[in-house]
Amino acid sequence: MAKIKTVYVCQNCGHQVPKWTGKCEECEEWNTFEEEMLEDNKARVPGSENQKKVASKPYLIKYIPFKEEIRIDTLNSEFNRVLGGGLVLGSLTLLGGEPGIGKSTLALQIALCLQKLKVLYISGEESLQQIKLRAERIYKGENNNCYLLSETRLEYILKQIDALRPDMIVIDSIQTISSNKSESIPGSITQIRICAVDILTYAKENNVPVILIGHINKDGHLAGPKVLEHIVDTVLQFEGDGNHLYRIVRAAKNRFGSISEIGVFEMKQNGLHPVGNLSESLISSENTNSGVAVSANMEGIRPFLIEVQSLVSTAAYGTPQRNATGFNIKRLNMILAVLEKRAGFKLSGKDVFLNIAGGLRVEDTATDLAIACAILSSDINISLPKQVVCSGEIGLSGEIRPVIRIEQRISEAEKLGFKKIYISSYNYRNLSKKKYKIDLFPVTKIEEVFKDIFK
Ligand code: TYD
Ligand code: MG
Repeated sequence: MAKIKTVYVCQNCGHQVPKWTGKCEECEEWNTFEEEMLEDNKARVPGSENQKKVASKPYLIKYIPFKEEIRIDTLNSEFNRVLGGGLVLGSLTLLGGEPGIGKSTLALQIALCLQKLKVLYISGEESLQQIKLRAERIYKGENNNCYLLSETRLEYILKQIDALRPDMIVIDSIQTISSNKSESIPGSITQIRICAVDILTYAKENNVPVILIGHINKDGHLAGPKVLEHIVDTVLQFEGDGNHLYRIVRAAKNRFGSISEIGVFEMKQNGLHPVGNLSESLISSENTNSGVAVSANMEGIRPFLIEVQSLVSTAAYGTPQRNATGFNIKRLNMILAVLEKRAGFKLSGKDVFLNIAGGLRVEDTATDLAIACAILSSDINISLPKQVVCSGEIGLSGEIRPVIRIEQRISEAEKLGFKKIYISSYNYRNLSKKKYKIDLFPVTKIEEVFKDIFK
């Protein structure tokens, strides 16, 4: 009997070694090696399988006819937006995210809404009954074109696809399906790679778009190999705390569009609803308490206004607490240090809590100014005037630094009826002021903002 050969494969990067080792020399991760059966590589020797195919030859780029990619309108405005205008024919899209975030819900919703196209939804995780139950919840109309298949073996899946010839395919999830070509367990790096390559080949040869759902491991990365991200055309990441209302889909890679777009959804009783106007949903006009400030932010190329809330109180214990939800705590500490040292506010003995409304996580440094205003407002217990927005980065010497895409931020604030916006004077210099109805207030130092607001 032939001896079964095994190798140890790094589950993070796919590096193979003959003997187990603790640390991967490729990606430098620890404890990532798992034993896997060696693949039968004979079929992959160039020429053995593909001999019949005509070999490719080089073409001069100018003689290659230009064909714009054909896109399917998914009838979901936010999903279209993040894809760059719709699902490209023959493309492989990986939709990743934590359990319970809404991957299956979104994929099923899209499958059901595309009534005119024959869609095959393959699930290796749930039974047909479970999917039917969810479908009832999220889609009220009648659908005569969506097929469900509960299956985990790749060969059988491909056979069914060949028989049905769908116009679009959803596979939920790549980690649950396995191929006969390898004896490794489903979800292992070898299985994921084999299945993804076979699915990719089908998608490209038949010009059928495929949405692959992928799990996320405990560090928030897509589970399985990095190679999976290389194989697919588009990687979409579902973000957001499962407990919160808003879910964001972000493109981490897109061969057919920009990666600066985001799609925002709200999870309701009957599925995920696209949030077209994010600012309106995030700002509560009734909130006139102290400690609240509005910031004009950007997420990729999308401007939106966000409410920053802060609570400053005298520390009950010796060491004051600093707590931030939705914002980097280190940056909050930096802002507090600048306020203390450059603007003379005594905050070192106070507890400071910061919260970004709506459960969003913001990285944009333009939020700094609104954060400083919210903290001060809570500290002195005076509310900010209602129709005021901030957008500026705070430097270590207390200067207000310019931010990118200021025109878009100002327009968004104007659109929502705000009357005044505090921006860096460096940004102000290059603006055509006549264009705006909103009052532009240029500032160079942090104190100038406070003097004007709390005069
Ligand atoms: P699901 O799409 O199964 O998440 P994933 O496939 O990413 O693991 O479900 C997401 C969660 O959303 C689930 O806990 C239940 C909830 N949910 C709703 O609130 N409303 C709905 O209409 C549906 C279908 C699910
Ligand atoms: Mg699921």
